[in-house]
Amino acid sequence: MIVATEFTLRRLSDIAGAEITGVDLSQPLTPPLERAINDALLAHRIVVFRDQRLSAAQQHALTLSFGEIEGNVRRLPSGERLPVVHTVHNLDEHGQPTAAPDAVGNYSWHTDKSYHEEPSLLTMLHALELPPDGGDTQFANAAAAYAALPEESKRAIAGLRVVHSWEASRRHLGLTPVEEETRERPPVVHPLVRTHPDTGEKALYLGNHASHVVGMPEAEGSALLDRLLAHATEPRFVYSHRWRAGDLVIWDNRCLLHRAVSNYDMGRHRRVLQRTVVKGTAPF
Ligand code: SIN
Repeated sequence: MIVATEFTLRRLSDIAGAEITGVDLSQPLTPPLERAINDALLAHRIVVFRDQRLSAAQQHALTLSFGEIEGNVRRLPSGERLPVVHTVHNLDEHGQPTAAPDAVGNYSWHTDKSYHEEPSLLTMLHALELPPDGGDTQFANAAAAYAALPEESKRAIAGLRVVHSWEASRRHLGLTPVEEETRERPPVVHPLVRTHPDTGEKALYLGNHASHVVGMPEAEGSALLDRLLAHATEPRFVYSHRWRAGDLVIWDNRCLLHRAVSNYDMGRHRRVLQRTVVKGTAPF
């Protein structure tokens, strides 16, 4: 058997990200290739595979090779639950581009499913349709942001715990929380500084799903979370991914924040990406 572990890897920035070429992700991964990709993900936090073409079933299979695939709490306008392999897009109910997409939350800094007891380990996004220009995804390196904090700030936030909730996330976006979704996802508490289970690195853990700091007056806690988010998303910690047709990007939610950027004519051009998420473990 030929064991395909060889690919070309190129760093995309000093902040995070590596580009991998020479791999066809529509084919089952061999165990050595799977390990090599996992190692690249741990080292670079974001891995970008070029020139891929995966059906929903193929992306489902690929996702399963990294762990348990995660379901979604969000309902579609039809009332149906978002499927495990779904698309994030800027299309309205008639399939036309809109400047007010349903998945508006993706345009705010967040880390996937931090409102779960066991939030997402990694997310996989595959470009299906792109605007001619823009439509980037930005990633903020929350581990580098934590490391750059003054020691005094690190001491001040050590041990703080933050409530994350789907309901708060909706509220932050000016949306009315859906009762069924809120019931299904009650608030959870996570450390403000989490330790990566594989690398031991510490990272700030916050974003749009973060509601308040446990044991702190709400206004004070919100101001602290806002200050830390502003710090973590300073340009020096951010890598902006400019999509190319066929890109498949995998990122590590345990040390990154991300958001979609509306730097394209959303009301005119289609942006459709196929998305899957792998379940992680409880942050500590
Ligand atoms: C996401 O938030 O998972 C999707 C980001 C994007 O659409 O670029």
